[in-house]
Amino acid sequence: MQDLRFDGKVAVVTGAGHGLGRSHALLLAERGAKVVVNDLGGALDGSGASAGPAAEVVELITKDGGEALANADNVATPEGAQAIVRAALDTFGRIDIVVNNAGILRDRSFGKMSVEEFDAVLAVHVRGSFLVSRAAFPHMKEQAYGRIVNTSSPAGLFGNFGQANYSTAKMGLVGLTKTLGIEGARANIRANAIAPVAWTRMTEELLPAEFEARFTPERVSPLVAYLAHESCETTGEVFSVGAGRVARVFVAEGPGWRTDDLTLESIRDNWDAIMAEQPYIQPTRLGQQAAASMQAML
Ligand code: NAI
Repeated sequence: MQDLRFDGKVAVVTGAGHGLGRSHALLLAERGAKVVVNDLGGALDGSGASAGPAAEVVELITKDGGEALANADNVATPEGAQAIVRAALDTFGRIDIVVNNAGILRDRSFGKMSVEEFDAVLAVHVRGSFLVSRAAFPHMKEQAYGRIVNTSSPAGLFGNFGQANYSTAKMGLVGLTKTLGIEGARANIRANAIAPVAWTRMTEELLPAEFEARFTPERVSPLVAYLAHESCETTGEVFSVGAGRVARVFVAEGPGWRTDDLTLESIRDNWDAIMAEQPYIQPTRLGQQAAASMQAML
């Protein structure tokens, strides 16, 4: 079997100045993609800005003979997102891959979280992924080809103390990914999401020190690159990935319990059946799960 390569393909990786995005950009470039390395270059909480981090990654890529362009626009504004995609089109002539990776943290316990802290995190993760994908979508549609990889998180899929804003954003990206998968299907645009764990500036204070050597960004990026490859037909899925392990994460619905006389008391009396976990709605066919769920109600 041949190695998977990206010759002739153009990728945008957002937030690629550090951590996971940097690793994704380096891998895609090493495999032949032309890469727009986007990074606003601010602090972990999103404050400040600098063109330095994106430029450094571009320098690394070009030093190794790859092709890349640095971009320091903000994914969270419509103008910024347009400019990122425009940079790909103007410099490399097309856009095939969008990796929505840019992210910030504003952790705070729920009772103390400000509206500003909530909005700022949703703006970068959810709005940013929407805006950059939206800017690229018409071009992908026109060429009947595109690959979008969003970045969710175990914190969104499963919840995490102190991250009401972040976990809301990260589960929001699951919904965006599934709908993009449905809407992109006819134009051969595939969209998937990863829920990674990696040692980066975002997690170095949270993860145990012994994770540093095992949970490297380089042990996440191959999945991103695979999902971004034309040979990958999968769409609308979410994958947990870290330390070299990859697993599909899916939304399932239990067998449920039904009655013609639904009351508070009948719900109370049948709570165990309602809570049963034996999978019933099979999480296989994208776009048919909501319909299957409704069918089971009849
Ligand atoms: P990081 O802080 O090293 O990288 C995030 C990058 O996004 C930074 O370089 C930052 O400058 C950039 N960025 C922030 N706001 C931006 C904006 N408005 N426009 C453009 N760029 C912007 O953190 P890390 O860990 O590499 O995170 C990458 C993604 O992976 C994030 O979406 C994060 O939420 C997600 N993630 C990371 C996990 C981990 O274990 N490291 C776990 C789950 C999710």
